[in-house]
Amino acid sequence: LVLILDFGSQYTHLITRRIRSLSVFSLCISGTSPLSAITELNPRVVILSGGPHSVHTPESPSFPPGFPEWAQSNGVVVLGICYGLQLIVQRLGGEVRVGEKQEYGRMEIHVERNAAQGLFGSKMVGDRQAVWMSHGDEVATLPDGFEVVARSQQGAVAAIENRAKRFYGLQYHPEVTHSPEGMETLQYFLFEVCGVAAGWKMENLMDEEIKVIKSTVGIEDHVICALSGGVDSTVAATLVHKAIGDRLHCVFVDNGLLRYKERERVMETFERDLHLPVTCVDATDQFLSKLKGVVDPEIKRKIIGKEFISIFDAFAQELEGKLGKKPAYLVQGTLYPDVIESCPPPGSGRTHSHTIKSHHNVGGLPKDMKLKLIEPLKLLFKDEVRQLGKILNVPEQFLKRHPFPGPGLAVRVLGDVTEGNALDILRQVDEIFIQSIKDAGLYDSIWQAFAVFLPVRSVGVQGDQRTHSHVVALRAVTSQDGMTADWYYFEHKFLDDVVRKICNSVRGVNRVVQDITSKPPSTIEWE
Ligand code: XMP
Repeated sequence: LVLILDFGSQYTHLITRRIRSLSVFSLCISGTSPLSAITELNPRVVILSGGPHSVHTPESPSFPPGFPEWAQSNGVVVLGICYGLQLIVQRLGGEVRVGEKQEYGRMEIHVERNAAQGLFGSKMVGDRQAVWMSHGDEVATLPDGFEVVARSQQGAVAAIENRAKRFYGLQYHPEVTHSPEGMETLQYFLFEVCGVAAGWKMENLMDEEIKVIKSTVGIEDHVICALSGGVDSTVAATLVHKAIGDRLHCVFVDNGLLRYKERERVMETFERDLHLPVTCVDATDQFLSKLKGVVDPEIKRKIIGKEFISIFDAFAQELEGKLGKKPAYLVQGTLYPDVIESCPPPGSGRTHSHTIKSHHNVGGLPKDMKLKLIEPLKLLFKDEVRQLGKILNVPEQFLKRHPFPGPGLAVRVLGDVTEGNALDILRQVDEIFIQSIKDAGLYDSIWQAFAVFLPVRSVGVQGDQRTHSHVVALRAVTSQDGMTADWYYFEHKFLDDVVRKICNSVRGVNRVVQDITSKPPSTIEWE
């Protein structure tokens, strides 16, 4: 295992992904975790991530006391990246100072010493490479036993190592694509310097998860799972079904916030293609009555999360009547980014979706929930879930579906979702947009596409008449994992056709705009 200690860098999750893509399993936990949490995981390599702090600030986060000694006496290799490097230097007796010149963005570094077996392998003195830097502080003096192996073009320390102690540091970010040789460096570091063996496969994780589920769920216990028709819950349910068979009971909740004909479509494909037993609950009135008059996005999310849980509890109660035993567990398709984003390391200064948005499958669960959670995907990224689904023979149409947020159209109708026929209008617009994308053969090249209902009206002219109607926005983005995203470029002709179709067939819409903002600074959803 390669363990990443997260000190709040926006790139931390990327390190995890990059290492997994080299067939080495990696996990990321908060950088301020106690030493016992680190030793329990028994890592072979620990990577200290970057972060927005300066080691000089008193409250800046650090690895736990005793960590360097533990690493050294157990032969654990340590690599610090950016802030991680500065932590190593400062905590081991060197000095970090505010840099005379700050280094942000693309820079060139050159190797200072021939480094066979070191960080740069066979690179020769003077070899150059472009890297991505992002730091204000710099190393002034090194702790005993360390040496500089590369410097930036401005002369700042760019890489250090202490081969005897097996401590290494890179001032730049090898994990980002703007460091073109970064992946090669990470690969060399893991396989040659640390002697890690590649061999981790999705099949291992599947077998491991099945074992864990079997041992967690008692032999007589029953489990419920909320299926949404999306990739995550479908793969999670299929995995749990493989582990415990028909003691899994799935429920599909129509909360009145679904897309056009979604309930009929999803229920039909569950039965036809997945052969999972699914009960459909129509809870439209329950959700919409609770959402009436609510405009605050966070309150909407919390209400929806709470209603979902009350439905699961009721479903569990109903099953108790039938089975004579109450289901004890609830399966959730929580993914790794939800976990990372919901639990930023304390003191990291990072305010992720924990405060930006309460993803209802993580942040919004009530503390007094009676069902215990099973989250078999909580270590995986979305593309890894798709890989797992493939191994589990989940049909392509599920695996390729664009993500759809748990709170559904509630976060795509800005303002009160029950006002007028906003939901109905949005469903029609969304259907036209998505169907056009499918017809043009673009669906699989887009991470997510959808329409948003805006709480404004604009003046238009339709059939010689003045109208004062609704405005909708179209959004389509590309992304690897939903954590960053770019807007998708459509040809003019495509957009022209879609907008024409929307205005001609959806009553109440006289203006369509396109959202061309990336994430960051925006998020993918509007609320
Ligand atoms: P944002 O809007 O935060 O979304 O950039 C990132 C990805 O997460 C989806 N999303 C959610 N998924 N429950 C979910 O299951 C939620 O509450 C939720 N909010 C956003 C969003 O659609 C995008 O794919």
